[in-house]
Amino acid sequence: MKAVAVFPKSGEVKVIDVPEPRLGSPTQVRVRTLEVGVCGTDREVVQGKHGKPPEGEDHLIVGHECLGEVVEVGAQVKDLAPGDLVVPRVRQPCRDGGCLPCRSGYADFCVTGEYTERGIQGAHGFAAEYFVEDVASLHKVPRELRGVAVLTEPLTIAEKALREVAHVQTRMPWQRRAPGKAVVLGSGPVGLLGAMALMRAGFQTTVYSRSPKPNPKAEAAESLGAAYVSSKQHPVDALVRQRGRADVVYEAAGSASAAFEVIKALAPNGVYVFTGVPESEEGELDEGVLMKQLVMNNQVLIGTVNAAAEDFESAVENLGRFRTKWPGGLERLITARHPPEAYAEVVTGDKRSDIKDVIVFSRG
Ligand code: BGC
Repeated sequence: MKAVAVFPKSGEVKVIDVPEPRLGSPTQVRVRTLEVGVCGTDREVVQGKHGKPPEGEDHLIVGHECLGEVVEVGAQVKDLAPGDLVVPRVRQPCRDGGCLPCRSGYADFCVTGEYTERGIQGAHGFAAEYFVEDVASLHKVPRELRGVAVLTEPLTIAEKALREVAHVQTRMPWQRRAPGKAVVLGSGPVGLLGAMALMRAGFQTTVYSRSPKPNPKAEAAESLGAAYVSSKQHPVDALVRQRGRADVVYEAAGSASAAFEVIKALAPNGVYVFTGVPESEEGELDEGVLMKQLVMNNQVLIGTVNAAAEDFESAVENLGRFRTKWPGGLERLITARHPPEAYAEVVTGDKRSDIKDVIVFSRG
C-alpha cells in the first residue's frame, strides 16, 4: 500500500510502498485512511527539528491528524463495526510502571518522556492507505461530520486547554458565570478552532495575527463573529486599547517572541495558554517586569500538549455543535485537498494553501 514517509538521514519525504498492516490482537481495528491533515508539527518533523522514526528504522510514516473508516475489527471489539468513521489518538503511553499519568490514561501528561506519538515521535503515523490501532485509541465520529472530522485532532488542543483553564479558574468562584475576554494569538487552524471553542464557551474573542486585513484568515475569523486585529498594524498596546485586556490568551502562533510580547495583554487573574512548539529564538525578555506582572496579578502561564481521550470525545461533540452554530464555518477552514504525492510540496510550503491542507487517501 501507499504511505508517505520521511527519511531523516537524507531529508527525503516521499510516497513509499509498504505491506498492508494486519490485525495483531483481538482488540485491534483495521482502518482505511480517508484524510490526513498537515500542520506545523509535520513541517518540523520533515525538517528534522522534532520527532523521530520508530526504534531501529530509517524512516517515519508521517501524519497524526486523521479521519478513517473501519474495515475490520478484532474478535473482542464490541463498540466499532466496519463502515464506522473514526479518529485515532496520537500519543501512546510509556511503559514505565511508575508513570502515574500514563498508567491513568493521561499519556499527554507523561513524566518519563518515553511516550510515543504516531506520525511524530517513535511510531509510524496515519499517512498510509490503511493502519491498525487498538480500539481504545479510536474515537467514533458521526457520519454527518465526514467532511470536517479531520479537524478533530487540532481541535483537541483547544479542548484540553479550555479544560485546564476551567480548572485553574475554579480559584475564582465569582467568575463562573462571566467567562470574559479572550485573545487568540495566530490565525492558523489551531487558532481559528481555538477561537470557535472560546466563543462557544462564551468568551468575547479577538484573533490577533500578523497579516493585515483583508486576508482569508481574517475573513474566516470575522465570519465566526470574532474580531480580527493585525499585529503588524497594531502592536500589543494598541490591541489592549482597542479590545481591553484578555482573561484568557490562547497562543497558537508558535513564535516565542510574539507569544511573550502578548503576555502584556493578559488581564489581572488571567490565564495564558501556550500551545506552540517554537524553534529557539533569541529574544529580549525583561524577566523582572514579567515576574512582577505575574505576581501582582495572580496570573497563570500554562503549557499544554494534547490530548487525552476525553478531549477527543469533546472535540467530536463540539464539531457537531460548531456546525450548527456556524454553518459552513468548519468547511471553510479546509482550504485545499491534495493527493498523497503532493505531501512534500504541501508540507514544505510550495503547495500550501491559506488555512488547512488535507491529504486524501481514500474517498471512502
Ligand atoms: C500534535 C500533538 C503532539 C504535539 C507534539 C502536535 O502538533 O497535535 O498530538 O503531542 O504536536 O509532538
